[in-house]
Amino acid sequence: MNKFFLNLGKQPLANNYFNFYKKKQTKYNLNLFFNTKNKIISISKRIPSKKMFTKNYPYRSSMSRTMRNSFYKLSLEIKKKFNPNKILEIGSNDGALIKNFNKKKVIGIEPCDNLAKITSKKGILTYNNYWNFSLAQKLRKKHGKIDLIYSANTLTHISNLNDVFKSISYLLSENGIMIIEDPSLLECIKKNSYDQFYNEHIYLFSALSVKNLMNKFNFEIFDIKNLSTHGGSLRYFIKRKKNKSFKISKDVKKQINKEIKYGLHKFQTYKNFSKNVQKSKNRLLQILNKIKKNNKKIIGYGATAKSVTVLNYCNIDKDLISNFIDTTPEKINNFMPGKNIKILKYNKKILDKYDFAFLGAWNFKDEIFDKEKNFLKKGGRFIIHVPYPKIIK
Ligand code: TMP
Repeated sequence: MNKFFLNLGKQPLANNYFNFYKKKQTKYNLNLFFNTKNKIISISKRIPSKKMFTKNYPYRSSMSRTMRNSFYKLSLEIKKKFNPNKILEIGSNDGALIKNFNKKKVIGIEPCDNLAKITSKKGILTYNNYWNFSLAQKLRKKHGKIDLIYSANTLTHISNLNDVFKSISYLLSENGIMIIEDPSLLECIKKNSYDQFYNEHIYLFSALSVKNLMNKFNFEIFDIKNLSTHGGSLRYFIKRKKNKSFKISKDVKKQINKEIKYGLHKFQTYKNFSKNVQKSKNRLLQILNKIKKNNKKIIGYGATAKSVTVLNYCNIDKDLISNFIDTTPEKINNFMPGKNIKILKYNKKILDKYDFAFLGAWNFKDEIFDKEKNFLKKGGRFIIHVPYPKIIK
C-alpha cells in the first residue's frame, strides 16, 4: 500500500529551462508516498518521459570535478575487479563514465539527443533511445549478452521498474554484473534534503527497497558502497542469485541494518521528515527575508534541478534571489523553471557583486568552497539549507 507523507506543492518540470521570461508555466503536484510493502519512496504524478528528457537536456555529468573523479575511480575498479568484455551504460549522459574505457568495449544508451551526440562524437557507440525491453532485444541480437551493465542516476527516473529489470535480466550474461547508483534515501532523510524530489525522480532507493526489488528478478546485492556524490549516494553491486562467483560482502547487511535502525521501514519516519521539511522552509525564508531587509544581495550558486524544488516549494522569487550562476552552456541565459530567475554565466568575478550565495549545488560544497575561497575571504557568505538552513562564514 502507498501511504502519502509529503506535499511539495506545485512544481514545474525541473530541467525545463526557458530562454525567455515565461509567466504561465505548467506545474504539477509533487506528492510523496511510502510503500509499506516494498519500502520504496515514490512520487505520484508520472510525467511522460518525452516531456522531460528532451533534445536539449541541460544536465551534463562532466560539469563537475567531483563527478568526473568519481566515474574515473569507478572505471579503474571495474577494470581491476571485473575486467568485462562489454559494458553497457543505461543513461550514459555525456559519456563521463564510459569515456574511461576502450571504445570498442562500451555501448551507451541515452535518450537525450544532445547528450547522445556528445558521446557519439567521441567515437563511442551510443543508442539514442529510452531503455526498454524492445531495445534490450535489439541489443542482444546485435551484440550478444553483456557482462556488465551500469547505470547511475537513471533507473529512478523510469516509471516501469518491472520493465527496467526484466530488460536488464534479458540482456545480462549469466555471470554478468549490474552496478547501479542513485541518491541514498537514508542520506536524504538524515540531511532533510527534500530537494532530491522533483518530477524526474520518480523513486528514491534504499538498500532495503533495492533488496526487495532485486528479489523479484532473482538478483541479489553482493556489495554496496556509500558515495558522497549527489549529497550521498549508494552504489549497488548486483548479481544473479545462482552466480556463486562473488561472496556477499558484510557491508550489505550493515547498510540494511543502518537503515532499519534509522526507521526507513516505518511510516512514522517519513511523517517526521515531512515536519522537518516544513521547518526547513520557514527557516530558509526567515534567513532570506532578513538579508533582503538589510539591503544585501543574494545570488544562487548552481542552477540545479534541486533548487527548482526549493524555489517553488518555498515560493522564493527574484526579489529574494536576484540571479543564479552556472557553468552549464544549456542553462546559461535561461530562467529557473517556475520562478523566472535568470541564470548568468559563471565567471570568477561575478560573486564580487553579491553579499550572499545560496548554494543550490550544495552537493558540491567542498569543490565550490575550494574554488570560491576569495569570496569567503572578502566577507562573502554562503547560505545552505541542508541539513538545516544556515549561513556559512
Ligand atoms: P546537480 O547538483 O544536479 O549535479 O547540478 C549541479 C549544477 O551546478 C550543474 O548545473 C553544474 C553547476 N555547477 C556550477 O555551476 N559550478 C560548479 O563549480 C559546480 C561544481 C557545479
